[in-house]
Amino acid sequence: MHDTSQAVLVTGGAGFIGSNFVLNWIGEAASPVINLDLLTYAGNPANLAQIENDTRHTFVRGDICDADGIAKLLREHKPRAIVHFAAESHVDRSISDPGAFIRTNVQGTGTLLEQARLYWSELNPGSKQQFRFLHVSTDEVYGSLGPDDPAFSESTAYAPNSPYAASKASSDHLVRAYYHTFGLPVVTTNCSNNYGPFQFPEKLIPLMILNALEGKPLPVYGDGQNVRDWLFVEDHCSAIRAVLERGRLGETYNIGGNSERKNLDVVTVICDLVDEIAADGKPEPRRKLITFVTDRPGHDRRYAINATKIRDEIGWEPAQDFEEGLRRTVAWYLGNKSWVENVRTGAYRDWIRRNYDERVPQ
Ligand code: NAD
Ligand code: DAU
Repeated sequence: MHDTSQAVLVTGGAGFIGSNFVLNWIGEAASPVINLDLLTYAGNPANLAQIENDTRHTFVRGDICDADGIAKLLREHKPRAIVHFAAESHVDRSISDPGAFIRTNVQGTGTLLEQARLYWSELNPGSKQQFRFLHVSTDEVYGSLGPDDPAFSESTAYAPNSPYAASKASSDHLVRAYYHTFGLPVVTTNCSNNYGPFQFPEKLIPLMILNALEGKPLPVYGDGQNVRDWLFVEDHCSAIRAVLERGRLGETYNIGGNSERKNLDVVTVICDLVDEIAADGKPEPRRKLITFVTDRPGHDRRYAINATKIRDEIGWEPAQDFEEGLRRTVAWYLGNKSWVENVRTGAYRDWIRRNYDERVPQ
């Protein structure tokens, strides 16, 4: 068993998945969390409002590219583990600014790994044995599947297609190298598309919920037949906790929702849910807002996860059914108007203009 007085260092814990993870962790575990986040456009302290006064949570604004800052944090708090979420995470932004992704996802992960190695190498033998570096990664490193291809397994060859995916693949390789070369006790998770509360409304599901609510066009890329395997964010968080406790060192674990859906079907269900839950008597069904627009360059056609390894070895399976999870998510966005207003700043509106103004209806 772990010493529960010892902290866990979470990076990117003010973002979508990181904040859900920190909230669940504080809700379920006694041990403290040190939350290191740069608060980029995607980081939002409001996600953590519920634990603002909880002494088990320490927020530190800082950059994973800052070696000295990380070294100081590790010396001061002596964490028993690092759970690494911090990243640039949006594929469309990686197409307009790849450099930011190389800096944070590659250089940042490299810096964090090196500081973790220096810290870990000086721990006493017991703490050294217990220490874990858990790297949170994505299924996008595996590339794109055809309609009848088997789902991604842990032995699928890496074939990243976007600058985002390539930067995450690079970070996965660095993590692997730190295990093989230095023996740093790492474990990596590769997860499919998440959805749920606190997701920044640049991603498909929250963008469509908010546009639908406001009667704006719903910009579906290409023919809308691309497939994603959706996982409710709380299920991703429970999987990470399980891998942190029971994952084998140096291994990778795929995490997925067994919920492959075509984008157009997801958007259609969102329209119907917003019609039903908002109940604002709009004369036209929101499905009429669906607009096919210019495709994302290099758009991966299909992702699907084979999650048998984590099920058989670790005993984890997703708990949330997709349709019910989507209903919860729509209800959350409709019920949290001040959170929504807060994130839609001028910078957000600039991004929406940049990404959508040049996409012409197809
Ligand atoms: P997000 O964009 O919502 O949050 C990223 C967080 O990292 C933000 O709080 C941001 O401020 C912080 N950050 C960015 N650069 C930083 C830096 N240099 N130093 C410190 N903090 C920094 O991302 P998310 O969707 O929550 O994804 C979290 C992780 O999970 C990422 O590593 C992503 O690749 C991975 N992932 C995401 C999904 C998904 O569907 N969202 C699926 C699989 C894996
Ligand atoms: O698969 C895991 C990945 O899922 C994570 O690693 C990424 O961080 C996360 O952003 C997500 O990547 P996607 O590119 O799949 O997510 P996104 O929400 O951007 O898009 C989902 C699908 O919807 C994709 O096929 C593109 C399409 N789409 C997206 C947007 C924003 C549209 O059709 N219209 C849109 O406006």
